[in-house]
Amino acid sequence: MDAQAKKIGILTAGGDCPGLNAAIRGVGKTAIVEYGMEVLGFRAGFLGLINNEYITLEESALSGILTLGGTILGTSREKPYKIVKNGDNGREKPELIKKNYKKLGLDCIVCIGGNGTMKTANMLSKEGLNVIGIPKTIDNDVWGTDITFGFDSGVQIAVEAIDRLHTTANSHQRVMIIEVMGHNAGWLALYAGMAGGGDIILIPELEYNIRSVCKKVEQRYEDNKPYSIVVVAEGIDHPKNSSAARHIANAIHTYTELETRETVLGYIQRGGSPTPNDRILATRYGSYAAQCIAQECYGTMVAMKNNQITTVPLEEVGGKLRLVKPDFRLIAKARKMGVSFGDEYL
Ligand code: F6P
Repeated sequence: MDAQAKKIGILTAGGDCPGLNAAIRGVGKTAIVEYGMEVLGFRAGFLGLINNEYITLEESALSGILTLGGTILGTSREKPYKIVKNGDNGREKPELIKKNYKKLGLDCIVCIGGNGTMKTANMLSKEGLNVIGIPKTIDNDVWGTDITFGFDSGVQIAVEAIDRLHTTANSHQRVMIIEVMGHNAGWLALYAGMAGGGDIILIPELEYNIRSVCKKVEQRYEDNKPYSIVVVAEGIDHPKNSSAARHIANAIHTYTELETRETVLGYIQRGGSPTPNDRILATRYGSYAAQCIAQECYGTMVAMKNNQITTVPLEEVGGKLRLVKPDFRLIAKARKMGVSFGDEYL
């Protein structure tokens, strides 16, 4: 037991994903069992810190949550520094957070979230709070780490859906368009598309040309491949009054007269139990975060770099996106296999 046993808080913020409870468990169990720390869990992301709403996380409260989807603490997209109304100087909520942090006698707050959460975590760190970030999101778009937990589960869910679309597309000789999440980054579409045998993969980072998409579909038809699977990220360029999938489906049908159907996978990708890989990754991130607290290595985010778990300064991470580079090796391999990214024939 550390003579000066620390008292820490954990919060989960932003979009939920499978693995959050595994991460909470990783932090909490290591903090309690290895370091004798006291652990509080704040409700609904940064809202819990602002409103001083928390639960004490005894080790017993952390049993049985490893496999549980969602987050036992709840989450929100609360942005404490955001100015929401005229006359608001954006200081009220950060001051409440600092007051509560001090009043509770916290030694550190662990913020589990995506790029928005890391941006807030960095700002709180610069105001003098001890903060550790843990990167999560199905989008896998947090700067500074090779992978976020939640991504593997999101890919698994999307691939299960794509596998099913192959059989119905083949039966009806249709072009099936499936839209996966990924508002800014195309990691989910790229990996699920490749794992699911997508013929065309459209991601926000590569500007597609609808004529190129239609040519590819027609080419497959002429090559006696009467159905196609098109995997699109929700964040590709499309009219605001339509989903990306509906936009692509309508365009293909209009230009080629082939039968098309679209599926928007939506929040199913964020639900349910984490994959074993995500359970392990979230546990490793959580446990390492507790170790960082014990070593008072604050103002950092735990990360994976070249298969090594490490930390990166929050200063470098906050608010930045990790996007798919056009020369990413998996894209080059896919093109060599005839997968289209909708940017050929340009
Ligand atoms: O950030 C993860 C994510 O699932 C994105 O892929 C998606 O666009 C967004 O969250 C949806 O946000 P919300 O849950 O607020 O509707």
